[in-house]
Order: sequence, then C-alpha cells, then structure tokens
Amino acid sequence: MTTDTVKNLYPLGEAPPLGHIPARMHAQVIRQSRFGEPRSAFQPEVIETPSIGPDEALVYVMAAGVNYNNVWAGRGVPVDVIAARQKGGEVEDFHVGGSDASGIVYAVGENVKNWKVGDEVVVHCGMWDIHAPEVLAGEDPMFSPSFRIWGYESNYGSFAQFTRVQAHQLARKPSHLTWEAAAAYMLVGATAYRMLTGWPPHSVREGDVVLVWGGAGGLGSMAIQIAANLGAKPIAVVSNESKFDFCKKLGAAGCINRKHFDHWGRLPHWESTAEMNGFTAGARAFGKAIWDILGERKSPRIVFEHPGQDTVPTSVFVCDSGGMVVICAGTTGYNADVDLRYLWMRQKRLQGSHFANDEQAYAFNDLVLAGKIDPCLSRVFPFDQTGECHQLMHENRHPDGNMAILVGAPREGLKSIP
Ligand SMILES: NC(=O)c1ccc[n+]([C@@H]2O[C@H](COP(=O)([O-])OP(=O)(O)OC[C@H]3O[C@@H](n4cnc5c(N)ncnc54)[C@H](OP(=O)(O)O)[C@@H]3O)[C@@H](O)[C@H]2O)c1
Repeated sequence: MTTDTVKNLYPLGEAPPLGHIPARMHAQVIRQSRFGEPRSAFQPEVIETPSIGPDEALVYVMAAGVNYNNVWAGRGVPVDVIAARQKGGEVEDFHVGGSDASGIVYAVGENVKNWKVGDEVVVHCGMWDIHAPEVLAGEDPMFSPSFRIWGYESNYGSFAQFTRVQAHQLARKPSHLTWEAAAAYMLVGATAYRMLTGWPPHSVREGDVVLVWGGAGGLGSMAIQIAANLGAKPIAVVSNESKFDFCKKLGAAGCINRKHFDHWGRLPHWESTAEMNGFTAGARAFGKAIWDILGERKSPRIVFEHPGQDTVPTSVFVCDSGGMVVICAGTTGYNADVDLRYLWMRQKRLQGSHFANDEQAYAFNDLVLAGKIDPCLSRVFPFDQTGECHQLMHENRHPDGNMAILVGAPREGLKSIP
C-alpha cells in the first residue's frame, strides 16, 4: 500500500491518485454518546484510513447503499455494535457503518490474486474467518460462528471514503449501472436470493405462488423480481394502493393493501375462543385476497417474511400445506406467535435465513450483470445527509425501492472512473 505523504486528506468528491492511500479520510461516524435518532447518531468526522490484512482489499467508495441495519446501529438497539466489537477485542470506540458499496479497488493484500488496483467493484456484506476449520471444510460460511455483516458487525463500512473488505466480498460492478444504482442492490438482493433459492426443496419453482411482504421495500422489490425471473407468481403486500404499480412493473401478479385488514400482531391465547375467531376471520379474509388475485384457491408455497411479529401468524396461516415461511428479520418485533397446529398438521416449514454466501451473492450479481434485475434505486442523498436518510427509513417514510448515498462520486449519473 502506498501512503500519500503530499496530501493526507482529500475532500469528498476528489479521488486520490489511483492506488494512493491518504492517511485520513472523511467518514460518517456513530458513537455511543450519540445513540438515538438516526438523524443525529451519524455525524461527519475525519478519521484514520484503515490498513488492510493479507486477504483484504481497500476500496475507494463511490457510492454507498442504505439499509435498515444501520438504523439499528445508530439507535444502539437491539445491539450496541461498538460494545460488541470491543468485547471481541477490537479497540475502536466508534462505528463506521454501511453494508453496500460500489467503488474502485485502491489496494489489495499480498494473498489477493483475483482483484487489482483500479478494478470497479460492488461489495457484498458477508464476512467470515476464511481460515476457520468449518469454512476450510467447505461448510456454508453463513453457519460459521465467525460470520459477520460488514458495515454493521464490522467497522469501516461504506459510509466513508475508504472501506476495508475481505477480497471474497468483491464482485464485478455492472458497467450499465451508475455508481449509485450499483451501490443499492447487493445486500437486499443477495438476502432475497438465498431466501428464495437457498432452502431446498423449497427453492422457488415455476408456477409457485410467492407471497412477498413489503413488496415495494428493499427486500421485497428484489424478491418480486427474483421470483418472477424464476417463473413464479409473486403477490406483493403493501400499505398503500399507490405502491401497486411499482410492484406490478417488477413482476408482481397482484398486490394486497394490508391496511384493509386489522388482525395483525400477536395471537390471542388459544383458549380465548372469541378473540381467536377474530384472528382466524382476518387471516381467512387475507388468504381469500390471495385467491382472488390468482383466480383459483391456490396458497403460497413460499412466504417471504421480514416484518415479523405483526405478520408471522398470518404468514403461517396462509402458507400452503408443505410450504415454507422463510424469514430474515423482525422489523415489527421479535415475539412472533406461531399456532403450532397449522405448522404440524399442514406440515409447514418456518425457516430462518440470513444474508448469503459467496456463491449466492455472485449468482444474484450475475442476474444484475445480465440486466435481469433492476436495483430499484429510488433516491440519492449527498454524504452529509447520511443520518437523514436513515431517519426516513426508521420512520418508514422512505421512498419505494432502495436508497443510496454519494460518497466519492462527485455527482449522480457517472458509471465508471471519472
Ligand atoms: N437478515 C438479513 O440478512 C437481512 C437483510 C436485509 C434486510 N433485513 C431486515 O429486513 C427488514 C426489511 O428490510 P428492507 O430493506 O426491505 O426495509 P424497507 O425497505 O423499509 O422495507 C420494509 C417494508 O416492510 C413493510 N412493513 C413495514 N411495517 C410493516 C408491518 N407492520 N406489516 C407488514 N409490512 C410492514 C413496509 O412496506 P408497506 O408499509 O408498504 O407494507 C416496508 O416497505 C429490516 O428489519 C432489515 O434490517 C435483514
């Protein structure tokens, strides 16, 4: 790695000469004293540029994607990510978040042979100890105790001029996309890809009905497109009819407005017959809305879950016999109730899923490279509004699709090294 001694800090939007690493960099930093509303939790600071290890790369960030995980990081709940890392032996008392990036490789470690300075890349957010015995044995690294989400559980994510990544996290940037669009899709897309293809025999097949919660959101917009690409019939759930068109253009066979129902939340006690009947009536009506869209009494073989507490009881109810509810989050709460009678009598599967391994992330990126997936970039923010766009996400007031932040890219619309 070269150290640029002439200029040790570059203004945002001015790229250092290729391969030159300034000693310091601009970053949006979260500190424990600022935990709370995302708007104020993120603050601009100048910090030291991180160094890299033999299997790592340093990427000059052109644009960063915005994800829900750094809403959590900024709020300091349910996990204080800084304290968690310090417990693991790291010394930094701050968090630089950001789990999606597009950018340019500025340095590689001595063991990195497949990437070089100048390569234009996107980054997937799966990190693990590549020397861990279970990883070397060929097990799915997503099951390794060493697994971490880069830019959430790791420091030096993409909300800074430079980010430190493991080389296997890199994938080719689609040349037809702008930096900001290329930064927007990987985390949600690869997560959705594993959920829909990574749990055989419940991989999405042609003709399957797939119920997608939050169809206009980050995960949902990717899930609709993946399911449609696989020949399935995605049905999107949203909170407003104004989102129907967006979902249908992505490939949804139909949409349901969840605001037309009110049976959400935790299940009543099973002995409270009247209340339980209320839930069942609501869930049945919701199931009928699916059948009405399809024009036949066919239930979803796959339910794509992430709201959690508010929706899991309904997801389990409407899932087809022998089908799967696959879940990667609990945005509305973690205490989701399952009426076990439906689970065992109808032999349904409730499957947890978390991000993706290399093969799944690369396979999803191939779909984007082939132009089969639209990153659904909805809004681009300047670097100094990093907190603001996380605030919008926190309040569920953000636009449909995925948001990105310009970091090194001097303006929107650029597709390669200026
Ligand atoms: N484990 C992983 O690897 C992983 C990866 C990515 C994301 N996640 C998590 O997944 C969650 C969603 O992420 P995202 O990027 O898709 O967020 P997002 O863009 O905000 O989309 C979430 C969608 O959920 C819907 N929603 C909100 N409240 C709801 C409720 N009470 N009932 C039903 N739907 C509701 C909203 O759509 P409507 O209001 O239109 O219904 C919203 O568009 C977050 O908690 C995130 O941290 C986990």
